[in-house]
Amino acid sequence: MQTQALQEIAAAPDGEALQAVKTRYVGKSGLVTKELGTLGKLPPEERKARGAEINAVRAALETALNEREAVLKQAALDAKLASEAIDVTLPGLPLPAGGLHPINRVYDDLTAIYERMGYAVIEGPEVEDEHHNFEALNVPWYHPARDLQDTFWLDDGRLLRTHTSPMQIRYMVAHEPALKVVVRGKVYRYEATDATHEAMFHQLEGLVVGDGISMTDLKGTIAEMARGLYGPTAKVRFQPSYYPFVEPGADFAVWWDNPRGESKWLELGGCGMIHPNVFKAVDDLREAEGRERVYEGKTGFAFGLGPERIAMLKYGIPDIRYFYANDPKVIGQFRGELG
Ligand code: DAH
Repeated sequence: MQTQALQEIAAAPDGEALQAVKTRYVGKSGLVTKELGTLGKLPPEERKARGAEINAVRAALETALNEREAVLKQAALDAKLASEAIDVTLPGLPLPAGGLHPINRVYDDLTAIYERMGYAVIEGPEVEDEHHNFEALNVPWYHPARDLQDTFWLDDGRLLRTHTSPMQIRYMVAHEPALKVVVRGKVYRYEATDATHEAMFHQLEGLVVGDGISMTDLKGTIAEMARGLYGPTAKVRFQPSYYPFVEPGADFAVWWDNPRGESKWLELGGCGMIHPNVFKAVDDLREAEGRERVYEGKTGFAFGLGPERIAMLKYGIPDIRYFYANDPKVIGQFRGELG
């Protein structure tokens, strides 16, 4: 019986099976217990030896039961731990990386070029007043130039700036010449959208004021920008044009050896020599704030251009509306790269 019981104990696969073996042999009505119950029927001289023998079997079985129970408990614990284990060597889930918007990349290229030339880089308010957006820039209310720019008006009489040029005024009111500054930021026009027109877009505005600043300085500056963007063989072209806040005024275009074989003149923006009326308007504003009049008699130039045009060509984006539609198929192509 002991041999049989020890085999069953060793073979019990889990706690439940072991409990059944225990009950069968050493439980209240188990086989070993029953055997003890038969002692009374034995002749007295045999009882002691028989009793000792049965108790030895019982002790051996209990030892084996306890040992087997400990083994099964440990095995169950190991199995539970194994099922909860995490493989820390598995590769992780990739986190989607962000990236700079193509317009910001072009802005960063442009501002790096101007910072090398010693310009300050600023932004300014998108909600403007009529005076800074038009009047002070030599665009009186009756001037036909107002028709060139369709404006988003706010209920309080202010407007969304139609260009970054009003920051020329704000910067000159706050700073004395000589100065060199570029302004980056959003502008707004109330107009129908198509592949090359958006109601919201961006501009980079430049302003240089000092003594004896000439059109030569302006042309050299634009040429330096073109070479910074497109390399040493880039060329610039100036054509006479009209903007109320400059005289003379010009439009400028850039030519470079396009690696895709699409070399052509890229019309980039407008520029010119600061109109004396602008300097006068700035001095009037300064005087109203108790500051010195320091601009009349100075010379300077300004320019304004659209980074969208540069980005469309640089990245082969055929429609300006793609920039702001937030379609991950477009913007997702600029993930993970920061330049
Ligand atoms: N503000 C003009 C526009 O939005 C662009 C421009 C032209 C800016 C000539 C200038 C400039 O500073 O001198 O169309």
